[in-house]
Parts: sequence; structure tokens; C-alpha cells
Amino acid sequence: MLRGKFITFEGGEAAGKSTQAKRLAARLEGAGLGTLVTREPGGTPLGEDIRGLILKDHPQEPVTELLLFAAARAEHMTSVIRPALDEGTWVISDRFMDSTRVYQGKHYRIEREFISQLEKYTVAPDYPTLTLIIDLPAEVSMERANTRGTLSRYDAARLETHQLLREGFLEIADSEPDRCVIIDGMLTPDNVEAAVWQAVNERLLAKVL
Ligand code: TMP
Repeated sequence: MLRGKFITFEGGEAAGKSTQAKRLAARLEGAGLGTLVTREPGGTPLGEDIRGLILKDHPQEPVTELLLFAAARAEHMTSVIRPALDEGTWVISDRFMDSTRVYQGKHYRIEREFISQLEKYTVAPDYPTLTLIIDLPAEVSMERANTRGTLSRYDAARLETHQLLREGFLEIADSEPDRCVIIDGMLTPDNVEAAVWQAVNERLLAKVL
């Protein structure tokens, strides 16, 4: 049996990732492919508890957060993502390792080498096959984040923060063009969905269907 593909959605705040993850899953199911939608932090009972710790309790120390994200990821990979891929299911994760590289690495300036080592223990060898980066201008991310009010955990009120996060994701796309596709988040949700579907067709489905 063919192994499933691992697709991640990444990007700054309130870019519409969750909606698009669900829409992509519906399209893949329509194409006859078994699909699982999951998210980070989260994806397992332990991961959802860790999500609560991070988003509600706001650890003071960035390394605390990094290790909590890594712990949640290790469980998620071992107990959900890898077994699903093994049985041929396509896995779509709403955020994954690039969020760590950008938020903990670029924003909180935790050493890249430390983050790479953690990836080695939590992700390898199942790195995402395709990463869809939903890109938004910093002003729009900031406005949407502030409207949602979910982000007291870091300095979401500062435009520079959103600019830095955006740059972080675009740098990853630039350095790993085989894995990453940038999607214009200013399009309507229907048009974002179409752009996502086009990328999935070109990068993955053309090779398996
Ligand atoms: P969201 O799921 O509503 O986007 O919220 C998750 C928050 O956690 C978001 O601000 C990004 C952040 N995050 C990290 O800082 N590092 C990570 O590794 C992940 C997965 C998320």
C-alpha cells in the first residue's frame, strides 16, 4: 500500500489555515483519498492539554514553550501522524514544525541548531511532503489577531512582530522551494481553496492518481 502524504498549513495569525485545512480534506476525500485533519499544538489528548498550558498559562520563558511544543509534537507524530501515514491516510496539519522555527526561532531568537536537533527527535524522518504557507500582509495579520483577541501570549499588538513572523515563513519558503508553496491569503476563501487545490494537484496528485 502507498504511504499517505503529509501536508501542513503554515502562516501568521488568522490567515484562514483551519478553514482551508478542512476544505482541502473534503476535496481529497472527494478524490477517494482517506484524510485526517489535525492541528498543532494539539492533535492528541496530551497535545491538547499542552495547548491549554501554552495558550492559557503563557509560560514566561520561551524555552519552556519550545519544549512544550516539542513534547506535544513528539506524541502527535508517534501516536497519530506516523501511524496514519503508514496506513495510507493523507494527513493535513494546521501548523507544524515551521511555526516553531518562526515563532520560537525567529521571534524568540532560540538557536536554530537547538530547534533542528529537536526536529530530529520529534519529526524525522517524516518531514511534511508539502507545506502551504498562507501569506498575509503584516497589517492584516495584526488587525485580525487583535480582533480575535487570542494572542495575549506574545506581543501581537506590534506590527513589527507580524512583519517578523511573515518574513520567517517567507524565508522558509525561499530556502525549501521543493516543499513549500506560498498562497496569497488576501484572496477570497474560495480562491485560496482553489490555489491550494492547484498546488496539491501539481505537487502531489499528479504523481499518485
Ligand atoms: P492557532 O492554532 O490558533 O494558530 O494558535 C497557536 C499559536 O501557537 C499561534 O500563535 C502560533 C503558536 N505556535 C508556536 O508559537 N509554535 C509552534 O510550534 C506552534 C505549532 C504554534
